[in-house]
Amino acid sequence: MQELKEKIDKKNLPSHIAIIMDGNGRWAKKKGLMRVFGHESGVKSVREAVEGAAEIGIKYLTLYAFSTENWNRPQYEVNALMKLLVKTINKETKTLMDNDIKLNAIGDLQSLPKDCFDELHEAIAKTSNNKHMTLTLALSYSSRWEIVKAVKEIAEKAEKGLLKSNDITEDIFTSHLVTANIPDPELLIRTSGEHRISNFLMWQLSYAELYFTKKLWPEFNRNDLFEAIYDYQQRERRFGMTSEQLENVK
Ligand code: FPP
Repeated sequence: MQELKEKIDKKNLPSHIAIIMDGNGRWAKKKGLMRVFGHESGVKSVREAVEGAAEIGIKYLTLYAFSTENWNRPQYEVNALMKLLVKTINKETKTLMDNDIKLNAIGDLQSLPKDCFDELHEAIAKTSNNKHMTLTLALSYSSRWEIVKAVKEIAEKAEKGLLKSNDITEDIFTSHLVTANIPDPELLIRTSGEHRISNFLMWQLSYAELYFTKKLWPEFNRNDLFEAIYDYQQRERRFGMTSEQLENVK
């Protein structure tokens, strides 16, 4: 484990890693357990990913914890997930404080149950001055929701005469997204062998490196995170340029 961590170039770390935590249900099913046990077991992997990222010096970590589409799951599973979120946030606030980690949340937070919303806001307020890393939970989040929300805000400004259509640039659009204060992720990790973006940070992931692992989320640990970072560092990010052009700008 130590070896892999040592191989990572600390000067070439992605500043922002986003993770689609997938496979909790399948992990539980494999063990003959109910799906909710998979989510409970997934909390341990959340801790591994958060601690691993903070340990190596990642500045931003974003976890897809609950999508807009997840509201369509059976009611008991939605309730169990919300309860787990409240419990975990409450229990882990001290760890966030001890590790100087700031908690942030993106999504349609008003749609969360009141106890979840309150717990989240309390933890966000408590950790707001922390500087080492920003942990963002995407809750009741989807990219299409976020993009429509941004378009509406821009249209309202245009209606009020505060903005002309010619003024709309990529930067203006980005500033209306819920991630306005966070740099784009350079690396996206998805567990469980699925190769999809699933309505997650679609604008922000435009140039991200995608990393897929067959491991189910409850099996994911910090060493898997280090492996993904190491894999990322072996890639050449060209942003539409040629390798030769890249050599010249180095
Ligand atoms: C995907 O597995 C996982 C989720 C929808 C929820 C993730 C939530 C946690 C790990 C719990 C707590 C999180 C935080 C941030 C405190 P799935 O149910 O889609 O698995 P499947 O594809 O095998 O059915």
